[in-house]
Amino acid sequence: MGHASPILDAAPLTLPATGGERLRDGHGRLITDLRLSVTDRCNYRCVYCRTGNDGAQFSELPLEEYARLLRVFVLLGIEKIRLTGGEPLLRAGLLDLIREVATLKSKFTPQPIDIALTTNGHLLAPMAQGLKDAGLSRITISMDAVDPETFTRITRVPGSFERVQAGIRAAQAAGLGPVKINCVLLRGFNDGQIEAFAEFSRRESVIVRFIEFMPLEEDRTWTPETVVPLAEIVARLNRVRPLVALPANHPSETARRFTFDDGVGEIGIIAPVSQPFCGHCSRVRLTSDGKIRTCLFSQFDHDLIGPMRRGASDAELRKRIQGIIEKKEARHHIGEPDFLKPSRSMVHIGG
Ligand code: GTP
Ligand code: 5AD
Ligand code: SF4
Repeated sequence: MGHASPILDAAPLTLPATGGERLRDGHGRLITDLRLSVTDRCNYRCVYCRTGNDGAQFSELPLEEYARLLRVFVLLGIEKIRLTGGEPLLRAGLLDLIREVATLKSKFTPQPIDIALTTNGHLLAPMAQGLKDAGLSRITISMDAVDPETFTRITRVPGSFERVQAGIRAAQAAGLGPVKINCVLLRGFNDGQIEAFAEFSRRESVIVRFIEFMPLEEDRTWTPETVVPLAEIVARLNRVRPLVALPANHPSETARRFTFDDGVGEIGIIAPVSQPFCGHCSRVRLTSDGKIRTCLFSQFDHDLIGPMRRGASDAELRKRIQGIIEKKEARHHIGEPDFLKPSRSMVHIGG
């Protein structure tokens, strides 16, 4: 890729002559946020995500194909791209893809494209500076416990805690901060860690985000009782120090933001189960095998790679994407009698 990018060089970036081609779904929501899974391989086996077995099968596309799809999405008004997996740092050539994405410009906003990455942090320490230099704007690292033993019980990989700590420090040193830490709370596993995470945020200058567990796991272990709800998290944090709510950065933000009464530390609470935020959803996802998922809980994927490989033009791809987004689901149905598990688990969809 880089200078020798056949797909991008063959089809130079031509912006549509008229404006107004932004992606809007059938519920009137503007779609500005794309998450691309660059692999469905992962080097961890977190209990809330994967089974203990290593799946032999995985599917990835050549990076040039992701780059072309991302470019078409940017033509449709996508401003924020998050690279996910599986574990995205396992993907060879990732830096080339980031470099390529960093050259894309939206005609709808003067701001550069916001390029973020969600990683488990295991491979991050030696890569952090390279990611920054390639054009990555910011990083989110999954870390589900402050206590090493609890952490390893969740990831099921010995030595993972130290690797992730080194990754967090390297990301901060490389200027990828403020680093966000994602902690999925699981009743009986790490719900005892909430207070320690509050201290961790204050001490390490990271944004700690607690996430309610959603039924997206391979093991099918989710029940309403496994969820630690926002109200309980807030009550426990308030006993550490009084919490002070912070304003949202933008309407479709997933996290409710808080600091403490002395202004030190930042906590986010992502509560898709007890306080759904679907009404402001601006997100759409591309799986590692090139399919659009219009919702985390979709029952169907929509193939883009087939039409692209059969020679569809950018304009044809845009039209197909618009038709798919038009039918984006209104909301999820977690906890309701009509809830159906999604057709794919998180490791295949990407966070
Ligand atoms: P930024 O605001 O750009 O930092 O991104 P974000 O808040 O979307 O963060 P991130 O990508 O780290 O997502 C955090 C977690 O929120 C994910 O791992 C999911 O658990 C949850 N999440 C993100 N997007 C959605 C969504 O569209 N629907 C639901 N139900 N949950 C989501
Ligand atoms: N529920 C909520 N969040 C999840 N993640 C993975 N599985 C789940 C789940 N079942 C989140 C983790 C990780 C990101 C990739 O996805 O926070 O950081
Ligand atoms: Fe958007 Fe679906 Fe998530 Fe709701 S559950 S916020 S509609 S992706």
